[in-house]
Amino acid sequence: MSAATMFPRLSPEEAAEHIFHNATVAFSGFTNSGAAKLIPKAIAARATELHAQGEPFKIRVLTGASSGASIDEPLAQAEAMSFRAPYQSGPQLRKQINSQEVEYVDMHLSHLPQAVLYGFHGKIDFAVVEATEITSDGRVYLTSSVGASPTYLKYADKVIIEINHHHSQRLREMTDIMIMPPPPHRNSLQLHEPLTKLGYPYAVVDPRKIIAVIENDEPDKVPKFTAADARSQKIADHVVRFLLDEMLAKRIPEQFLPLQAGVGNIANGVMAALGQNPYVPPFKMYSEVYQDSLVELMEKGRLLGASTTALTLTPEVMSQIYDNMDFFGPRIVLRPQEISNHPGVIRRLGVIALNTALEADIYGNVNSSHVFGTDIMNGIGGSGEFTRNAYLSIFMCPSIAKGGKISSIVPMCPHIDNNEHSVQVIVTEQGLADLRGLGPMQRAKAIIDRCAHPLYRDYLHKYIEGSRVGHIRHNLATCFDMHTNLMEQGAMLPDLDLSTAQNE
Ligand code: COA
Repeated sequence: MSAATMFPRLSPEEAAEHIFHNATVAFSGFTNSGAAKLIPKAIAARATELHAQGEPFKIRVLTGASSGASIDEPLAQAEAMSFRAPYQSGPQLRKQINSQEVEYVDMHLSHLPQAVLYGFHGKIDFAVVEATEITSDGRVYLTSSVGASPTYLKYADKVIIEINHHHSQRLREMTDIMIMPPPPHRNSLQLHEPLTKLGYPYAVVDPRKIIAVIENDEPDKVPKFTAADARSQKIADHVVRFLLDEMLAKRIPEQFLPLQAGVGNIANGVMAALGQNPYVPPFKMYSEVYQDSLVELMEKGRLLGASTTALTLTPEVMSQIYDNMDFFGPRIVLRPQEISNHPGVIRRLGVIALNTALEADIYGNVNSSHVFGTDIMNGIGGSGEFTRNAYLSIFMCPSIAKGGKISSIVPMCPHIDNNEHSVQVIVTEQGLADLRGLGPMQRAKAIIDRCAHPLYRDYLHKYIEGSRVGHIRHNLATCFDMHTNLMEQGAMLPDLDLSTAQNE
């Protein structure tokens, strides 16, 4: 019997009627890839209607990672969310989190399935999962991301499936799904190479839990990247030169090591630069997202294979993949986020991790998530699990932001996502500080002289001179002066002449 006739076929509005106030709803989606699309909008419309009648209606929302335009933004605009985990990147939701209207648990992404298993996010009332097919015996073939969907399908009380006909049925050729059993019953993962497969091409659900199947054909709403600007290009050049030097020094083997690249324009630019450099050998990736720039690299034979949990591709680039599945199918593996971001595998494969910071302090502690230590930007995402366990952990950011009013190198970060023990290299457009083997004062000198913008170097050196001597030097009375100035006077050092800020 076909699944379409076996399971209740409802409209999105009818399915959304099942979702009750305070329900915990776990959606598929890691970035906008593979995100549920119709039900979030229908829930948002239902919330707006109920609010107009004076009825309370908010839900608790889980996904794989951020799912801005598909899930977070419609629900945030309808003020329909009371809780969110494990990552977000939507402007409207960000405001609601920072004004404490929405409770947000910002967490390592590979921890999520275990947190669900042990009930740290409460009972999962509903899973809403996008698929290319569901069989009558409960095999669910996922679409462009795997994320945490297998776990949500397993633990949710009730399940709604969005069958999306836009996606290729052949995505299952890339998909490799397993759910880790609880400890102490975990065998080692026999994953010694980024493309090894360990599981099945489908997730599993008890068919009795399915309350609705909905049909859809919308592409993933993945926005285009802007072209790398001059500063990103310089950052990319520093990273490429450094990795080539590491190869010459035989600290990176001739066949290279698998790369992980974070989200955003800088990471996209660095990947393109690595791919174009004739001295960098063809390489593989063990990463959590697969972005537009990688498709061309793969077609040119520069990127030999990629393990990921999401194909975060704009619709045009996704079509290129779907039109050429004979080529891409064997070169990409789509895994659950518990495996794509697994600390043991990252350490074993010797991954080179490339992530982006908002700011770094003079000793190498990195803040990627909280402006002023209070306001969330997006979250830690996968950056912690890659940075802590990579063979080489590299952080990149421009040396200044907002025309020079902000320095990305500061005396002390008011929030730390990745600390000095894990961060090995910091890169800005000014240069690269290799912190390996350096003590605190040597690290500070390298970071200030090589990475800080010249306008801020004197201040940072003087900060150290005026600080209390210990293993690390700090002045607890002044360490956040730059941040306080920014909050109160709109610039970290208000007396600086910023007219030359962009030229250096
Ligand atoms: N203080 C305050 N604001 C700052 C800042 C600082 N130190 N540094 C940058 N900003 C502002 C920028 O001016 C910009 O503001 P705008 O949106 O008003 O223009 C904004 O923050 C974003 O900066 P941008 O340089 O465009 O950031 P990005 O797109 O490269 O993203 C992170 C950088 C850190 C926010 C992003 O990489 C992130 O969320 N990382 C954490 C998660 C992660 O690493 N995931 C991947 C793991 S696999």
